[in-house]
Amino acid sequence: MARSLDSKARPGRIVEQDFVHTGPGTLAGRYLRLYWQPIYVSEKLAQGSIVPIRILGEDLALYRGESGEAHVMTNECPHRLSVLNTGWIEGETVRCRYHGWRFDQAGRCVEQPAEAKPFCHKVPKLASYPTREAHGLIFAYLGEGDAPAFRPLPGLEDGAREGWTVSPSAEMIPCNWFQSAENIMDDVHVNFSHRDHLVNTAARPFVPTRTWAEETPFGMTQFQRRGEKTDQIHFIMPNQCYLAHPLRSARDDKPFWFKALFWYVPIDDESHLHVLIMVYHTRRKERPEGTPIHQEIQAIVSGRKGWQDVARHPNLIRIQDGVAICGQGKIVDRSRERLGTSDAAVIQLRKLWTRELKSLAAGKGVTPFGTPDPRALRKEELDAMGFNA
Ligand code: FES
Ligand SMILES: [Fe+2]
Repeated sequence: MARSLDSKARPGRIVEQDFVHTGPGTLAGRYLRLYWQPIYVSEKLAQGSIVPIRILGEDLALYRGESGEAHVMTNECPHRLSVLNTGWIEGETVRCRYHGWRFDQAGRCVEQPAEAKPFCHKVPKLASYPTREAHGLIFAYLGEGDAPAFRPLPGLEDGAREGWTVSPSAEMIPCNWFQSAENIMDDVHVNFSHRDHLVNTAARPFVPTRTWAEETPFGMTQFQRRGEKTDQIHFIMPNQCYLAHPLRSARDDKPFWFKALFWYVPIDDESHLHVLIMVYHTRRKERPEGTPIHQEIQAIVSGRKGWQDVARHPNLIRIQDGVAICGQGKIVDRSRERLGTSDAAVIQLRKLWTRELKSLAAGKGVTPFGTPDPRALRKEELDAMGFNA
């Protein structure tokens, strides 16, 4: 019989599985809540609209007030506990659709229409969180106290240049968030999971002969030796990744960059948001939306569909990744794995996270990881590719 996930757990001891549980009050949840997290794609939230979202195990109502500003608060009306996301937006406030109580963006009750003697001042404030919009995404700070400074995002400087495009998106993947984080620190998969895709054939044509990882001021870097070059993928603690591949155009052999920033944001312990900003040197093309990728992932994992059924899906890469990691189960049982030397970066990521959680649990705080300097990273990668900087 498989050992349970927490078989190694005992009071006071941090086990590596602690990074999978991120709901309110959990250690990993506390760690992730120390950072701004992307929660939605800006253009999908129209002015005056409200949607239910779940982030880090919390049910929230996200809305855009009539001023255009985004607000996020608990999605439960304190009167008789109905959801708020079915209500109306009035200015910057939300009116509950059940009995019309109204709340401002700070979560304060400001109106109780059927009460002859309103008692708004006695109604506890709903939890509400600061938001910020950048690069086409809505971010929220779900932690305690004042929000930290917004960390600059690497690799986006090209997006402001003429002819470049910054393309943000967010997709639900139906398995634990850490499986996505490990997947990006496991670049061997590119030669198999993405075997027929351009991302493999153009960027990583050979199975790596050596994989290693190093801790960096921003988290860690995974290195892989492929033929004459060494690929790098950068993990920005606690749940972000940056990659930049210098490629040569098949048409005219001119060098160009493919850059991507990822976040893996837990929805709850069994699903997460896979948030991606791609930066590329072409104008944005209108892409068809395609069917929801979590449905395709589940259909393929269960055998109801085959790869030929999704071959032309606009989000094929994410489906390929999702199938691999959802195929491990909702929460993979790491006690039964057989890791090899090519899993060096996965092991390093687990060690890093486990170390930070131990420190947090001991009241010592966490390492103040920074943001990678794209110019420094770029130089190494350019040199590795023989590009002239
Ligand atoms: S449940 Fe919201 S006003 Fe009654
Ligand atoms: Fe992948």
